Amino acid sequence: MGYRKVYEQWRNDPEGFWLEHARALDWEVMPKQALSAEAAPFYAWFRDGMINACHNAVDRHVDTGHGDQVAIIYDSPVTDSKETITFRSLQERVARLAGGMLSSGLSVGDRAVIYMPMIPDALVAMLACSRIGVIHSVVFGGFAARELAIRINDAKPKVVFSASCGIEPSGIVRYKPLLDEAVALAAHKPDQCIIRQRPESACTLDRPQDVDWDDYIADASPPPCLPLAGDHPAYILYTSGTTGEPKGIVRPTAGHMVALHWTMKNIYDVEPGEVFWAASDIGWVVGHSYICYAPLLTRNTTVVYEGKPVGTPDAGAFWRVLDEYRVSALFTAPTALRAIRRDDPAAAELERYDLSALRTLFLAGERADPDTIKWAEKHLKVPVIDHWWQTETGWAIAGNPVGIELLPVRHGSAYVAMPGYDLQVLDESGSEVPRGTLGSIAIRLPLPPGTFPTLWNADDRYRSSYLEQFPGYYNTGDAGFMDEDDHIFIMARTDDVINVAGHRLSTGALEEVIISHPDVGECAVIGVADPLKGQVPLALVCLNAGVTTDRKRIGTECNQLVRQQIGPIAGMAAVGIVKRLPKTRSGKILRATMAKIADGVSFNTPATIDDPAILDEIGESLAALGYPADNG
Ligand code: COA
Ligand code: AMP
Repeated sequence: MGYRKVYEQWRNDPEGFWLEHARALDWEVMPKQALSAEAAPFYAWFRDGMINACHNAVDRHVDTGHGDQVAIIYDSPVTDSKETITFRSLQERVARLAGGMLSSGLSVGDRAVIYMPMIPDALVAMLACSRIGVIHSVVFGGFAARELAIRINDAKPKVVFSASCGIEPSGIVRYKPLLDEAVALAAHKPDQCIIRQRPESACTLDRPQDVDWDDYIADASPPPCLPLAGDHPAYILYTSGTTGEPKGIVRPTAGHMVALHWTMKNIYDVEPGEVFWAASDIGWVVGHSYICYAPLLTRNTTVVYEGKPVGTPDAGAFWRVLDEYRVSALFTAPTALRAIRRDDPAAAELERYDLSALRTLFLAGERADPDTIKWAEKHLKVPVIDHWWQTETGWAIAGNPVGIELLPVRHGSAYVAMPGYDLQVLDESGSEVPRGTLGSIAIRLPLPPGTFPTLWNADDRYRSSYLEQFPGYYNTGDAGFMDEDDHIFIMARTDDVINVAGHRLSTGALEEVIISHPDVGECAVIGVADPLKGQVPLALVCLNAGVTTDRKRIGTECNQLVRQQIGPIAGMAAVGIVKRLPKTRSGKILRATMAKIADGVSFNTPATIDDPAILDEIGESLAALGYPADNG
């Protein structure tokens, strides 16, 4: 059956479609009803079913005789170590940690924050939570203490799982001092911090709440998997919104599993037993869905890679992993390919490796420029598929469903809507625009299983951020167009979110930090085009009257503040000091217009601008900083 038939099948009977696919999983109580719409717009999927994610991802493979199959390959060029973990041994590790959690008083619905580097114990912690119904919230290891504290305050975890350190090519990142600082900053105090000591840099466990990971599980007795209601939250994952306050995306258990299970064959075209590698980080949604849960649900071997696309040790790093483990499908961000291409434009490194097992390369996280796709196609000689999704949805909204039918290549497009998603491109008044015309991309409610039903403890924000602009639709925050063939092209964000190396950052959050500099009166952060990272943040800053401090020093200090308070991934490309910022007559800063000036893109001066002359001043300041850059 081809894509259009499958999509029509879903359209004709959405609930029947998902109920049928739900059968692929092991349920304690099979759901009778797929969708509960009584509390619309807060929808629930499979609410009357009872299921456990850890059982489906781990235990059932052991029960069905696959205990000796490798579940996790850990490959860490930064520590020069490798490890394989079978489903049986994963089950033991997960169950013991879950036992430790039960002994320390955690129970269903409690929260656990996981702030860890890319080591197998991070997945063990996620699965241990799922085993007993504890809601995990993973915080990306590259976030600074303040960001961790914000998430601790919102999720209110009883326990935090962490490690003594992470390893970046630039050196060791000591997590424990960051965790201690976060706990000190946070109003909510977790009862315990469980620390995995790493040989590269152990830490002192000197606070009353600190517990060594091995001690925590020493006397633990492994509990069975606990059946949970289908809409029990499996996890909360914070993502950037337009303000400094991140949004806690809630992911219910059953819908997540049904949708992810469906995608592994239908989108990624892998069979049980094959090796699947999502080269991301467990701190991001891709890591949740495609490093941890999805591949394990379908009994694939997942790769936990602690390294970079380049520099660990060279631009052949990805090709080595693909060769060494006979990886069938790779999922990465375009920025990783651009980094490899920058270091090895002719892909000479490929000659050292055998990539014959690789069938498809999938890209997501940011717009995949056709140039990068063509480079990868030319050298890898496999289909290179862009697909589009968000933390909110947890799986692809649009893509090329290779396992159903490989649609012809269309560079620049994220392909077609997946079953479950009814996509519309709308104008500002909510009317559908003609094909080929740019507009806001919205999805008709209800969203499919696996997506978010609301924000953690913030129903009102869920409505106001996503549902109010286009009644009856979820507003994706992305702009683009659809062609005559229903192919979608994602072109830009419609809000103040920027995308740096596949990482989503809020310009509002960056501004909040910069404005805390004592000499700064006002500032605007914009995303400017970057040949490697897609976008990088640039700050334009107005100083307080009478400030005479060296301007260069202020710029450096602003950047340091951002790195310390948000994290090094958010470092500014440049900080410019300007006299005034362009605003509308109602006082709204014209960030989009400034971004266009910085990128050298033509723009219309907004009719609502207060003083058009300021745009010339901004142009001069940006030119002094080297923008528009010659990216050719
Ligand atoms: N823990 C601590 N620090 C981290 C970190 C982590 N997990 N991840 C990144 N950082 C730090 C880096 O050490 C670096 O710090 P520095 O400025 O002090 O050297 C800073 O954050 C920026 O790192 P990064 O974004 O990795 O940029 P880079 O220039 O070092 O590398 C790429 C560029 C393209 C190689 C890199 O961004 C990359 O691998 N991108 C792929 C990202 C990805 O897979 N995204 C998918 C999300 S779905
Ligand atoms: P995140 O929630 O961090 O995964 O970021 C989601 C955002 O990344 C989307 O809203 C898009 O702006 C962008 N994005 C993700 N995938 C794509 C893609 N394939 N093409 C263009 N933009 C993408």
